[in-house]
Amino acid sequence: MQIPPSTQDALLAAALAAREKAYAPYSRFLVGAAVLDEQGRIHAGCNVENAAYPQGLCAEAGALSAMVMAGGRKAVAVLVVGVADSPVTPCGGCRQKLREFAAGDMPVLIANAQGVLLELTLEQLLPHSFGPEHLSGS
Ligand code: THU
Repeated sequence: MQIPPSTQDALLAAALAAREKAYAPYSRFLVGAAVLDEQGRIHAGCNVENAAYPQGLCAEAGALSAMVMAGGRKAVAVLVVGVADSPVTPCGGCRQKLREFAAGDMPVLIANAQGVLLELTLEQLLPHSFGPEHLSGS
């Protein structure tokens, strides 16, 4: 699926605004994510760290949680924004979390503050993945 430039801009704006709110006192690595749902709505999240380090949450998890809370059940595009020397792609756990709500051809846009650096599909990020259909036997 092609994401129109205006939607891409809206996803980037939402993810950047979310990134501003990141709670990352331990890593100081701020991440924002924005999910476009099947109703055309955008849901954003930021990383939320914890003094008990493994309890921290990634930005993508927050964005998906916001989508589910709003009644969204399908992610049709995701944008992740972070600032590093190389593009900040979703971690392995987040790839699986996205997989729950997305088709393999869902675009995953990887951005920094200046714009989108890379566009991949979820299938490229998480090939041969396990998903809900395995459990339903279909
Ligand atoms: N982080 C995310 O929020 N999303 C990712 O996909 C990669 C990593 C966060 C987790 C942690 O708060 C910080 O970045 C450093 O790993």
